[in-house]
Amino acid sequence: MIVPDFAKRKRDGVPISMVTCYDAWSAALIASTEIDCILVGDSLAMVVYGHDTTLPADIDTMAAHTAAVRRGAPDAFVIGDMPFLSYRRGLESAVGNVAKLMRAGARAVKLEGAAGNIELIRHLVESGVPVMGHLGLTPQSVHQLGGFKVQARSDRAAATLVEQAVELERVGCFALVLEAVPGAVAAQVTAALEIPTIGIGAGRHVDGQVLVLQDLLGITTAFRPKFVRTWLDGSTLIRDALQAYHKDVTDRRFPNEEESYQ
Ligand code: KIV
Repeated sequence: MIVPDFAKRKRDGVPISMVTCYDAWSAALIASTEIDCILVGDSLAMVVYGHDTTLPADIDTMAAHTAAVRRGAPDAFVIGDMPFLSYRRGLESAVGNVAKLMRAGARAVKLEGAAGNIELIRHLVESGVPVMGHLGLTPQSVHQLGGFKVQARSDRAAATLVEQAVELERVGCFALVLEAVPGAVAAQVTAALEIPTIGIGAGRHVDGQVLVLQDLLGITTAFRPKFVRTWLDGSTLIRDALQAYHKDVTDRRFPNEEESYQ
């Protein structure tokens, strides 16, 4: 994928597939499929580091994981997620942080919310940085929102969401993540935009889907939201393999002669 492909895919009616990824080995696996793009999401704070929210992710951690993903998937369209507050301390500081992700190998950045970000997004786009927006449930605002809750349930909130989406398109975002909003609201936003919407918990009437890799592989053992489908029982398969390894070691079946240097 390249940036102009995103709008073209919407025009052509071909959905976009995106998946999160945080390391080189899974990036290499993803790169061997037809998945369209990779998001190095700040969800890594929860998935990789075991935090309850995404807030502990910082820019240097995001840059290190972006670089790892780039090494694993040298040709992929990789989007780096701007972590909590990393773009809210003024333009200069935000641009410095964006530069860290782009130099680490991102081809675009994603940032949450519209209010207070419009001038920054305009400046980034004018500076050659592709920006993906993110509206609906914006996990960096989890405490403001009172939890990880479905957003835009009222007519008024839905209207505000559409307005914000249109504003993000107007200042140059090339795509928009819509997280945890009713399907009908996501459909309304999608119809209002020329750029594609990429949904997570936003129903079917969007222009693409994104899931957390560990969720779709069935590796996440914690709470599984309603919108997650698993294509593999990863946790069972991995647990069984680890247990079999343990058994082979303790029963002295590993290593055998062929697995030993003579
Ligand atoms: O951080 C992340 O993984 C995300 C996706 C859930 C869209 O923002």
